[in-house]
Amino acid sequence: MERAKIYKKTLLIDSSDDKGLKDAAEHLVNGEVIGFPTETVYGLGCDARNGEAVKKVFAAKGRPADNPLICHIGDKAQIKDIVSEITPLAQKLIDAFMPGPITVVMKKADSISDETTAGLDTVGVRMPSHPVAQKFLKLCGVPVAAPSANLSGRPSPTGARSVLEDMDGYIYAVIDGGDSEFGLESTVVDCTGTTPVILRPGAVTKADIDQVLGGGETVMSGSLADKETPRSPGMKYRHYAPFAQVEIMKMPEGTKIEGDDKAGSDGKISKATFTIEDLKKLSDDEAKELVNIASPFILRSREILQANPFARIGLYCGSEIKAMYDKMNDKLLLAHTEFCVYGKTVDVSAASHGLFEGLRFLDVQEVDTILAQGFDGEGLSVAYMNRLSKAAGKKEALVPGMPAPARPDRTPLPLDAFKDTFTVSVLFVDDNNTSLSSCLESLMRRMIEKNEPYISNRESDTGVEIYCESAGLTAMDGMEPDEQMDKAVREISGFGIKNIESRRADPAIYDCNDLILTVRDEQAFAIIKAFPQIKDKVFSLSTFAAANGLVMKDSSGKVMSISVPDPTGQNFETYVHTAKALRAWLEILFPYIIKDLGASRI
Ligand code: TXA
Ligand code: MG
Repeated sequence: MERAKIYKKTLLIDSSDDKGLKDAAEHLVNGEVIGFPTETVYGLGCDARNGEAVKKVFAAKGRPADNPLICHIGDKAQIKDIVSEITPLAQKLIDAFMPGPITVVMKKADSISDETTAGLDTVGVRMPSHPVAQKFLKLCGVPVAAPSANLSGRPSPTGARSVLEDMDGYIYAVIDGGDSEFGLESTVVDCTGTTPVILRPGAVTKADIDQVLGGGETVMSGSLADKETPRSPGMKYRHYAPFAQVEIMKMPEGTKIEGDDKAGSDGKISKATFTIEDLKKLSDDEAKELVNIASPFILRSREILQANPFARIGLYCGSEIKAMYDKMNDKLLLAHTEFCVYGKTVDVSAASHGLFEGLRFLDVQEVDTILAQGFDGEGLSVAYMNRLSKAAGKKEALVPGMPAPARPDRTPLPLDAFKDTFTVSVLFVDDNNTSLSSCLESLMRRMIEKNEPYISNRESDTGVEIYCESAGLTAMDGMEPDEQMDKAVREISGFGIKNIESRRADPAIYDCNDLILTVRDEQAFAIIKAFPQIKDKVFSLSTFAAANGLVMKDSSGKVMSISVPDPTGQNFETYVHTAKALRAWLEILFPYIIKDLGASRI
């Protein structure tokens, strides 16, 4: 079955909407696919007994058909209808860990379709503890086959918006049950024999299982010889892949890790907010430990920037590391770094909770490299490092025979999703305001819209509205735009500059803008000379690029600056050429402009 949009829009159902939940359950039983929350990650559910419905799930995910799905239940009494045998070992794990983040593999019963198990004679059974999952599964009443709700190869979704990002239009509905508590998928344990084999590590750790069984007999399937076929078919594929290249930053040996044995304890992940002020309160030993943890990030970032001054680096790190970067205040490093902070640096439970959303967030920032914190513990750290190492794997080996997933379209989000919003604005200035500055305004407006929505870099629950305008140093108010330029901008972007009336730049306009970019260097100098108090927010396109370390060199190694010839009086091709050049510069500068304005895409 081909992956194809079958709905105009996927319904987003609130977990408190009882009618919506019932409707979703009815659609599932009638053969549709529904996204639903669990305490691990979101699942893409269908009736496990209905082979045609299962095919729809494989199609929506773009998943290879040889990778089986697991069966979700809302009631332990359903297990006997799904499996043909419950070994004593399986029974012990069911009693100890269900409901919870575990999948127990047993011999399958005939009721489960072969499509669900990809032809295997075993089936994975999972009973989620998430209250919304339980309610929904009970309403369905049938065993629900569900893989994680991501496009095959992408990081698993742990929030409803990420499900929509990958699945909008491909499935009937998604139930929004908030953030998943653990953030990593369940521990998959093969219990068909007498010794449990962990096929995929998760929040239920080897130590947890050994403790229940009263011995240390659990086997990790990674210890199988390489040439053996993996017992969990899914583990042979590269997974969890953001578009950026991931590198793991080692935690210095001996660092005391927290949360290694208590994943997502009762769902309360402390999102620590450590600031520069807090740095001052540290003891010498604590400060030294932090420097040791932060150093790999800083050294590697500098190395990357040295090789490529245009590199954009994402950090998946703890809040103390971010505070250290802020304190260092290395302007270049900061301009090229996007942060995704998971909480306290040594808290592997918080890092696990935020990992997949973090990778997705940094992808949206369009960074090319992600440096992510590593952990060397033996509990939850094993599951975290398992996912992170797969995310860091080589790009080529995505899913053999399947095209690499394309960047999904951005899903618009209403601003009322935020607690607060603030507005910021950028101003483009030229001598007149009928041509180049209007062109910049028009192109920037499109770019802003295309990349919406934005959040504040300082408060993650605050939305940001970005505006842009233009003015001219010697412009007269109300002049008609240059017709040739209007046509040229329309030709390259579909939108002209007809509706932009010329305005004279004045202190009031400077005041209400947070960043002022002039077409030429001498215009920026003139503004700063007249109004030295606003010098920190006035740049020319080329001094703004230079301030962000974006030094471009020509083939002979000479530094190039952004110079835009005035096309006035030239032929139409010259106008088009100029408009295209401005768009190319804006595309390079755009991420730095929104960062300068204190905003990030989400
Ligand atoms: O936490 C989870 O397990 C999530 C939520 C939605 O419940 N589900 C999930 O499903 O992660 P999925 O399909 O993305 O991963 C299931 C893994 C795959 O690696 C698959 O190969 C393996 O479990 N698996 C499923 N059935 C199996 C079986 N019968 N024998 C061995 N491995 C199996
Ligand atoms: Mg998955």
